[in-house]
Amino acid sequence: MNTSLPWKSAWITGAGRGIGRALAELLCQKGLTVYTSSRTIEELWHLHEKCKHYSGTIVPIPMDITDRQQIEDMVASWDAGSGVPDLVVLNAGNHDPFPAQVFSSERCSKLLQINLLGTLNCIDPILKRFLERDKGQLAVMASVAGYRGLPTAAAYGAGKAALINLCEALRLDLYGTGVKLQVINPGFVRTPLTDKNDFKMPALMEVDQAAERILQGLLSQRFEITFPKRFTFFLKLLRILPYSWYFGLISRTVKTDHPTVTSEKHG
Ligand SMILES: NC(=O)c1ccc[n+]([C@@H]2O[C@H](COP(=O)([O-])OP(=O)(O)OC[C@H]3O[C@@H](n4cnc5c(N)ncnc54)[C@H](OP(=O)(O)O)[C@@H]3O)[C@@H](O)[C@H]2O)c1
Repeated sequence: MNTSLPWKSAWITGAGRGIGRALAELLCQKGLTVYTSSRTIEELWHLHEKCKHYSGTIVPIPMDITDRQQIEDMVASWDAGSGVPDLVVLNAGNHDPFPAQVFSSERCSKLLQINLLGTLNCIDPILKRFLERDKGQLAVMASVAGYRGLPTAAAYGAGKAALINLCEALRLDLYGTGVKLQVINPGFVRTPLTDKNDFKMPALMEVDQAAERILQGLLSQRFEITFPKRFTFFLKLLRILPYSWYFGLISRTVKTDHPTVTSEKHG
């Protein structure tokens, strides 16, 4: 039974691996019932097995966030049972880096379907339930890649920038209600997603440390949860540079070999 955290239960999307998985494990250790969803059910059951001896419970839910019906069905089952969890972390996301030289609206669309529209599919029924009971905490996973445009990340960055802006707007709308909304903007975290990167990632953080930082942030009153602090502060400073300085600095610092093909497991 959880005695120290303000939540009894949580829903984490994209909890089969990477950041979502580490956060789910941490919350389970602390005694929460954690509903974990992703498309690969085997990864969720693996986590369930690993966490069996913790005081909380991992509940695996196979789900694709691009399928609105699956989300509605799951939320309806909560309505009929234990109710929607107190804490929801919309973390599921993917990356498919490609440069302007091989720009593809199809690849952009596939990525935005998951990172942006999939997240919106989840926000919709959750926000309604939270507003009905005037209570609940929602955190949306964006990225520092949403601060400004980065090489090979047009689609990824556009989706994350949209999520940051969306959260800012929702946060303003939610003032005066009991619903807490936060945005999570990590720097580089070592996960299966970043393992695909073929460049040296500055200030790379281990996934368990990232989960700890997210938990601290969720417990705080801060709107933005961002880490590692020194790196993300530097990126924030870049936001105020004029375009000529910004483009010059980034094109000198970030070298890419313009990949033409990247295969996503579910892409
Ligand atoms: N790692 C970083 O450095 C970093 C930095 C900033 C932000 N982020 C963001 O943090 C989040 C997690 O990243 P990660 O590095 O932990 O990635 P990851 O290791 O690739 O894990 C992504 C998780 O999302 C799930 N997922 C992907 N598409 C989905 C879909 N359509 N429906 C449901 N689940 C889906 C995956 O499971 P299935 O494929 O089985 O569905 C997996 O469990 C992402 O939103 C990412 O953009 C990561």
